[in-house]
Amino acid sequence: METIKWAVNHMPKTEDSQLKVMALDEVEKARAFHESFPQYSITPLVKLDKMAGRLGLKEVYVKDESYRFGLNAFKVLGGSFAMARYIAQQVGKDVSELPYNVLTSDELRKTFGQATFFTATDGNHGRGVAWAANKLGQKCVVLMPKGTTQTRLNNILAEGAQATIEEYNYDECVRMANDLANKTEHGIMVQDTAWDGYEEIPAWIMQGYGTMASEANEQLDDFGCERPTHVFIQAGVGSLAGAVQGYFANRYPENPPKVIVVEAEAAACLYKGAALGTGELQIVDGDMVTIMAGLACGEPNTISWDILKNHVDSFVAAPDWVAARGMRMLAAPVKGDSPVTSGESGAAPFGALSCIMCMDEYKELREHLGLDESSKVLLFSTEGDTDPERYESIVWGGNSR
Ligand SMILES: Cc1ncc(COP(=O)(O)O)c(C=O)c1O
Repeated sequence: METIKWAVNHMPKTEDSQLKVMALDEVEKARAFHESFPQYSITPLVKLDKMAGRLGLKEVYVKDESYRFGLNAFKVLGGSFAMARYIAQQVGKDVSELPYNVLTSDELRKTFGQATFFTATDGNHGRGVAWAANKLGQKCVVLMPKGTTQTRLNNILAEGAQATIEEYNYDECVRMANDLANKTEHGIMVQDTAWDGYEEIPAWIMQGYGTMASEANEQLDDFGCERPTHVFIQAGVGSLAGAVQGYFANRYPENPPKVIVVEAEAAACLYKGAALGTGELQIVDGDMVTIMAGLACGEPNTISWDILKNHVDSFVAAPDWVAARGMRMLAAPVKGDSPVTSGESGAAPFGALSCIMCMDEYKELREHLGLDESSKVLLFSTEGDTDPERYESIVWGGNSR
């Protein structure tokens, strides 16, 4: 069995100029925006008491994003907020003046006009963008990488978007969608990753993800947990990880939780950068075959990379069996705990945590992280069964794919 790899972060620090992207007042704006949606409700934070005991931890909390707006994943938080901020900018307003009912009004549509939003996606981000475009009465074009399942494509088509599965990987689809956006009149690229020269929209997307971290932090408080000691967060391009890390670094500047980034081994670009140690951004290319579809991205978000370099404790590269184990453990936790329906990309961090706590070969990492009976660990199950057939094959069928 392939083992989990990890790299402790020894990269040189930078000026940390991107941390302000996740300033708490920006995140509060995003949260107020999301709360204005009729579909909004806070997603559950599930406390796994018995599991915590079994793993040798004090507390374990899992934020269940399968309940987000009926879309089965957290991703819509980013695309919707970025689209709102873009529209606000175009019509000369602040996003706080454009809650859902104003944003979807005929009046605003007339002022803003007809646009086409472009994006590339493994599934969840594109579904969120298509959903938001549909609500706003705007057009949407979505490119999906090869290997994408028909179910994921159908979910996006159902939102009225034009969507296709291409013969290219995720990062290549991003470039293609960007070219199309540039060639289209009033075409706007809404991508959940940043590169040199494309930073504004991805920064807004990250702020949108901040809603999830802000909710979790408040829910921890309701449980009487003042602050998590450890946060495990999964990464594809790292926008989510940068958002979550950024939020907690801003929220607890004096005593931030230790953040551990978990990637799919086949696409572990952030881990690769940390293992190299110079701070230079590293790329993984090729087909990046993994069950963790949402994490199969090989080119890091440049804004996030800066935040992660300055704050993350360790980077973990997890083989597929780790995600499959996490899915099963969350579906059937210790008696007395509530189950969580967690998909491949959603369960990878929990799978990694369980291995670190239970397997001798990861004792060194466990000790390095200081994970013990006093630890309060927060994890995000970022998707439910977004690929239902594969979910059943893994959780019911006992397969690893
Ligand atoms: C369910 C899920 N979790 C996590 C991620 C990772 O987010 P990021 O690409 O910002 O690192 C994705 C990305 O698509 C996803 O779909």
